[in-house]
Amino acid sequence: MLGQAGQGQSGSAHVVVLGNEKGGSGKSTTALHIAVALMKAGQRVATIDLDCRQQSFTRYVNNRRAWARRSNLDLEIPAHHCIKYGETMQIAENENAEFQQFMAAISAVERKFDFIVIDTPGADTYLMRLAHSMADTLVTPINDSFLDFDVLGTIDPATYSVTGESHYAEMVRDVRRKRRQVDGATTDWIVVRNRLSMLGSRNKQLVANGLKQLSLRLGFRPIDGFAERVVYREFFPRGLTALDDIDEQTLGTRPSMGHVTAREEVTGLLRQLKLPLDERGRRRAANRAEWFSQVDKPLEVHDIIAT
Ligand SMILES: Nc1ncnc2c1ncn2[C@@H]1O[C@H](COP(=O)(O)OP(=O)(O)OP(=O)(O)O)[C@@H](O)[C@H]1O
Ligand SMILES: [Mg+2]
Repeated sequence: MLGQAGQGQSGSAHVVVLGNEKGGSGKSTTALHIAVALMKAGQRVATIDLDCRQQSFTRYVNNRRAWARRSNLDLEIPAHHCIKYGETMQIAENENAEFQQFMAAISAVERKFDFIVIDTPGADTYLMRLAHSMADTLVTPINDSFLDFDVLGTIDPATYSVTGESHYAEMVRDVRRKRRQVDGATTDWIVVRNRLSMLGSRNKQLVANGLKQLSLRLGFRPIDGFAERVVYREFFPRGLTALDDIDEQTLGTRPSMGHVTAREEVTGLLRQLKLPLDERGRRRAANRAEWFSQVDKPLEVHDIIAT
């Protein structure tokens, strides 16, 4: 946290924030996928839910824990914190209480974990701004439509070229600038197109062109994320992700091609995020995979008798 771009300061966790002022763009879904992907890569991950009212991210993690217990599965569960809204009539008091809780959660995890994944609400709140100002990596999922594009930029209705920047983009620019002034660090901002239609369309191409233009003005990386797939909707009640094992016991349903393709696109997204994975964590994960692949094999004589 608060280190060089793409790297947490040594000994301090790298903070990944999911943010977009527009609701329903895929923040909570993407947050759990990123957290699980990092854990599968051997990283130590803490998660924080700042969407205190809706708490979808918290429920997603709780559903995962419950499904693991019920189906006797070894699913990775992050160390999770949920921040509660201040409930007095005084805004300043509420913000102070929220700030204290958030800072307590951060200091409890920042030295023990490699990554902190923070989900924020789809509205402009005090906590949401605070989280944006701490992001080493900011991931903004957007639905592939000009209605969602509108929180980032405005476009000319005749030519579809970008004419200006909108409120959320201005807020991000502002917090990034302040962050640079405070500790010289830059936030890697990635805008991820979500729920992409599997068919090519004029709208899809125009949104892609608009994002490309806007990325040059605002300094973000536009990337293609997940297609519109029913499997992403089905994952929530069981707390699953596209990266979990594709078998009937894990999924609780027959695996489909959608599961396989979703897994490929999540792996692709993670590659493009370019998060700074700790090498020791990667080795731990590789050793664990090797161990699991050997577990069912009968032992050879030389494994039992030391030579
Ligand atoms: N790629 C996808 N394909 C199909 N459905 C999706 C996809 N991504 C997200 N969804 C669905 O879209 C809805 C919104 O997703 P999600 O809750 O992750 O968004 P959010 O940005 O966190 O919303 P909010 O702003 O309300 O917190 C959910 O029903 C989710 O299951
Ligand atoms: Mg959400």
